[in-house]
Parts: sequence; structure tokens; C-alpha cells
Amino acid sequence: MLDIHSHIVFAVDDGSEDLAESVAMLDAAKAAGIDCIYATPHMKSKDTDVTPIHRNFLALKPYAEERRIALRLGFEYNISAIDTTRFDRVREFVLRDADTLLLEMPFSHWPPEWRRIVTGIQKLGLQIIVAHPERYLPIQRDHELLNELVDRGCLLQCNASSILSSKVEKRRAVDYIREMGRLDFVATDAHSTQEYGLFRKAVQKVGAEINYPAF
Ligand SMILES: [Fe+2]
Repeated sequence: MLDIHSHIVFAVDDGSEDLAESVAMLDAAKAAGIDCIYATPHMKSKDTDVTPIHRNFLALKPYAEERRIALRLGFEYNISAIDTTRFDRVREFVLRDADTLLLEMPFSHWPPEWRRIVTGIQKLGLQIIVAHPERYLPIQRDHELLNELVDRGCLLQCNASSILSSKVEKRRAVDYIREMGRLDFVATDAHSTQEYGLFRKAVQKVGAEINYPAF
């Protein structure tokens, strides 16, 4: 199974703290039936130094190969980090081997120009996967935004933890996405080993509904 969103690269964001934790995450992923992982460190500022990300990703890769897990690099790119005068710069941060950007929105206040940014990315010929839309306040308040994202050609990725969440607002947004038939991806968004057990449970619950569109 594919996991398109994880913070498995160690010591670069709020995910895994060190190599040992990342290797434990690989083992937990394998036990959950995952055989392809996109490592997607946070990119919250356009000035972030990506050198340690590439270095630590490469350090982890042999451990993934030992476990027959395909480990690929991507980023979780926050819309506020996008240089709107140079959209082409996001090309460096797409999911490896795919013309696809995993896009994170702010949790409470979306920038007024978010639609222009989405269009600017798409004009580069890039596909957009919106990371965990069910977690964003604007969407929890107005499910119509989900229709708008889909109408604009975006794919949707829900977190496994949201599918099992007891928080009503999050669950309602997930249910809306399920009713739309747009559970395109379910991902761990793993920051530690614990999310992989949730992933397995979530897939047991909604696995038949996941689209996994080619990208
Ligand atoms: Fe994430």
C-alpha cells in the first residue's frame, strides 16, 4: 500500500527525532502493509535549507530498501511558503517522480489569494493533492470549499487519524468527503510509530472507498 504523507525523515521537522525512530517507523509501516512511502517533510518557509532533508533522506533509504519499502522524497508544502512571483520554484518540491505537489493550507486563516496560487501551480502543469483538508477550520465551517477544491482539479488526502477521530467537526468533514466519493488518498501523516496502527484500522474501515488515482 501507498502512504503519500509522512514525516519519517529524521531531525528535519516535528516528525522523527533520529535515525532509530525513523527505522522503527519503517518497521511499523511494513507491519501496516505499506510498501511505498513518500517522505514529506514540512516546508513552511521558502528560505528553508533543504540540505539536511536530502542528507537524512539518503541516510534512511538503505533501511527502507532492506525492508523492501520504496521510499521517495516529497515535501508538505505550505501555501504560505510559496513565492507568488516565482511559482516555478515549487517544482523542486514535488513528489519525486511525479508532477504532483502535496499542498498544506493554514489551519485557520487561508490567504485571500489562495485561489490564484492554486491556479498558478496548476498552470505549471502540476497536480495538487491537498493535505488533510478535514483538519482546516475554513473547511470544517463550510464544506462547499471541498467542492470548490475538487472543481478546481485538486485531489484530496485524508489522514487515517481523522477517519477514526472522535472530534465531530473533523469527522463531519471526512464524512462529507466520503459522500462526495473523493477519498482520493488516506495517509498516515506519521510523526512517530503510533500513526501506523491507526492507518491499518482506517484502511479496514474505509479501504474500499479509497480512489488512489494515478499521479
Ligand atoms: Fe504532515
